[in-house]
Amino acid sequence: MTTPYLADNQPRFLEELLDWLRIPSVSADPKFQGDVRRAAEYLQARLAEAGVQNLALCETAGHPIVYGDYLAAGPGKPTVLVYGHYDVQPADPYELWTSPPFEPVIKDGNIYARGACDDKGQVYMHVKAFELMMRDGQGGVPCNIKFMFEGEEEIGSNNLGLFVQANKEKLKADVILLSDTGILANDVPSIEVGLRGLSYHEVEVTGPNRDLHSGLYGGAVQNPINALCQMIASLHDQHGHITIPGFYDNVEELSTAARAELAKAPFSDAEFEASIGLPASYGEAGYSTPERTSIRPTLDVNGIWGGYIGEGAKTVIASKAFAKISMRLVPNQTSDEITALFQQHFERIAPAGVTVQVRPHHGGEPVVTPTDSAAYQAAADAMETTFGKRPVPTRGGGSIPIVAMFKSELGIDSVLLGFGLDSDAIHSPNEHFGVFNFLKGIETIPHFYRNYAAAETR
Ligand code: BES
Ligand code: MN
Ligand code: MN
Repeated sequence: MTTPYLADNQPRFLEELLDWLRIPSVSADPKFQGDVRRAAEYLQARLAEAGVQNLALCETAGHPIVYGDYLAAGPGKPTVLVYGHYDVQPADPYELWTSPPFEPVIKDGNIYARGACDDKGQVYMHVKAFELMMRDGQGGVPCNIKFMFEGEEEIGSNNLGLFVQANKEKLKADVILLSDTGILANDVPSIEVGLRGLSYHEVEVTGPNRDLHSGLYGGAVQNPINALCQMIASLHDQHGHITIPGFYDNVEELSTAARAELAKAPFSDAEFEASIGLPASYGEAGYSTPERTSIRPTLDVNGIWGGYIGEGAKTVIASKAFAKISMRLVPNQTSDEITALFQQHFERIAPAGVTVQVRPHHGGEPVVTPTDSAAYQAAADAMETTFGKRPVPTRGGGSIPIVAMFKSELGIDSVLLGFGLDSDAIHSPNEHFGVFNFLKGIETIPHFYRNYAAAETR
């Protein structure tokens, strides 16, 4: 089914991706700042070779945005804005990788490297799909395309948000296309039609003005670590509900019919449990595992620290305890509203004897994308052609905050044409991306453009 051009050039496509993955574009860590820029320059150069025009590295207060376009399809043709991110998550802990995160290898049909799936591998599908349309003699590029790739998705996309607000005319398009999500399985194609929002906080609990001998003082002071643990434990009840007053007030309850529709996507609890080594899954009473990870909001501790964690025993009551706490949000919660509710509640439940500080980090809004649009249908038809099966719509659990901003700031809907798998270990050690998935993406994307141009040409 794959085109001769793809078959002939696939080894080079993979080599180029591996070269890109060698550049450690970790946006969160200032020590990699130069590498992040090198990754942007590498992407810009490959886009130029493929025939993308008007290329620029757009400077921001942080890492640069790569922009380029190809508007030769003509004014009667629709315009697609392709978004993705070339930054990656930190690779720690390095010792848990079976091969080093920035020395990519192809093993058992998978590309192993930090960013292989999230999101460099998926961005590179778009670069190569464009090259293929330009060169394979199958009719050229049927849509106008604008490419915009950022280097700060993994740290909240704040500067891209400003860039979008400042460049509304330049970014005008009929639809946004991005590949930064996944499918259910390689033989169960799917398209995510929702993303959760995010409210993220660091909390600090302070007790005595110095670390204390736990024998001399123990029993007479509120221990900040004990207090923090009690406070965190109280954030869920025995049914897995979040106890913050007002937290669920705006949560959209799906109709029975809508839930039944989503439940059509195949899912096995036993396989889910086995895939992550769990004795049993867990979650909010009254909802299935796929619902708990998509249409329901959550609260999780991402990290907790304080006191003595070195070798042996030290008898001490620490002066301070800390935690990072995040909440995944669903329509129609907003991150500002939930941030305020969390902050008030967490300060209010502090037991006597400690003080609490809540510091909000980046947030993001949840989003649901339409399934009745020409662009969604073009994507579903494209996948049906290349997978031989109609994709099912799913609601995703992850967050890509800029997608809601594309809608609110530019008025443009997105199509989440992702090709990753949950088992690709994104953000974890041994992140990988299937060669099958990479090539399937390159094969599918041109079908999307053809279908979309056929439906939307005026
Ligand atoms: N690509 C992911 C989000 C994702 C993954 C959505 C898989 C759906 C399926 C993205 O790079 C990501 O990691 N987002 C962060 C949020 C960001 C603000 C740090 C997330 O979801 O934690
Ligand atoms: Mn991503
Ligand atoms: Mn990510």
